Amino acid sequence: MEEKIQEIKGQIVSELEKARTSKELFELKAKYVLGKAGIIPGLMKELGKAAKEDRPKLGQIINSLKEWASDYFARKEAEINEMEKNIRYKEETVDITMPAKKREQGTLHPVTIVKSELVDIFAGMGFKVLETQEIEDDFHNFTALNTPEEHPARDKQDTFYINDSFMLRTHTSPGQIRTLTTMKPPFKVLIPGRVYRADDDATHSPMFHQMEGLVIDKDITMCDLQGMLDELVRKMFSKEAKTRFRPSFFPFTEPSVEVDVSCFECGGKGCKLCKGTGWIEILGGGIVNRKVLENCGVSPDKYTGFAFGLGIDRIAMLKNGINNIHILYENDLRALKQFKD
Ligand code: PHE
Repeated sequence: MEEKIQEIKGQIVSELEKARTSKELFELKAKYVLGKAGIIPGLMKELGKAAKEDRPKLGQIINSLKEWASDYFARKEAEINEMEKNIRYKEETVDITMPAKKREQGTLHPVTIVKSELVDIFAGMGFKVLETQEIEDDFHNFTALNTPEEHPARDKQDTFYINDSFMLRTHTSPGQIRTLTTMKPPFKVLIPGRVYRADDDATHSPMFHQMEGLVIDKDITMCDLQGMLDELVRKMFSKEAKTRFRPSFFPFTEPSVEVDVSCFECGGKGCKLCKGTGWIEILGGGIVNRKVLENCGVSPDKYTGFAFGLGIDRIAMLKNGINNIHILYENDLRALKQFKD
């Protein structure tokens, strides 16, 4: 029996020393010490077969084997647990000094930046901002704006027709008709949006952006337009910026003006941007033509108003020193990324 016990001890040591994982350890534990099927509990059964006088001594030997084994397994288990924990720590380590992955951040499009600036400024003056449709009919895009069929002003607008009745709007001015026929005066509206003309060169794109302004109230005069535009250029360009009105013609305003802002590059002395004139044209406007009010069922004897339209792309180009409008629409990130608000 004693020999057998030495043999079992030897086996346990050699097998347990090879165990590397808690799974292997558990399998050995099951083989040697656990339950009735374990080899050591099995020895207890054999005790019954031994001669009566030998039993106490054998019992002692088996018990001490049991104790030895349970100590040994406990030590080994602690060792293996520690080892496994260290391996896990190593695998799960996060290197907090590692530089973070760079996340590309988008920037607003230069046209969007200028549009938001304008919307902010006009909203501050009490304008309601709204959008009207891009596909228009002849009545809203031309006729109601006092531009009848044979009117020469139509030729200037190189219209994209969809069919005999519909077209892509050539300006945001049909928004004037949309609001005059649906909203009760007095009101102040701002209508930004896309417009389309069959025109394509360095400063013209077939699709571009305009912003229409329309104020309808009692006793509105050109002075109101001028006062409001002075405020606009001071906020948009610089505190020193001034406006200049030049007579012009639009069928839907009478009188009509073209408005210049003092050059924000040279302050009016004359430079390349303003072509030496000290002034830069920024918008068209005027007093709403009586005929337009009549066409929309608004009494021109009761109400007057002013309207203006400006090119958002043009302002974005001027402010950012962009000399080709296509840079805005080629979606080359190297160019667009440079414009931050
Ligand atoms: N619709 C005109 C244009 O596209 C601009 C404009 C708007 C002029 C409102 C006067 C009043 O050129």
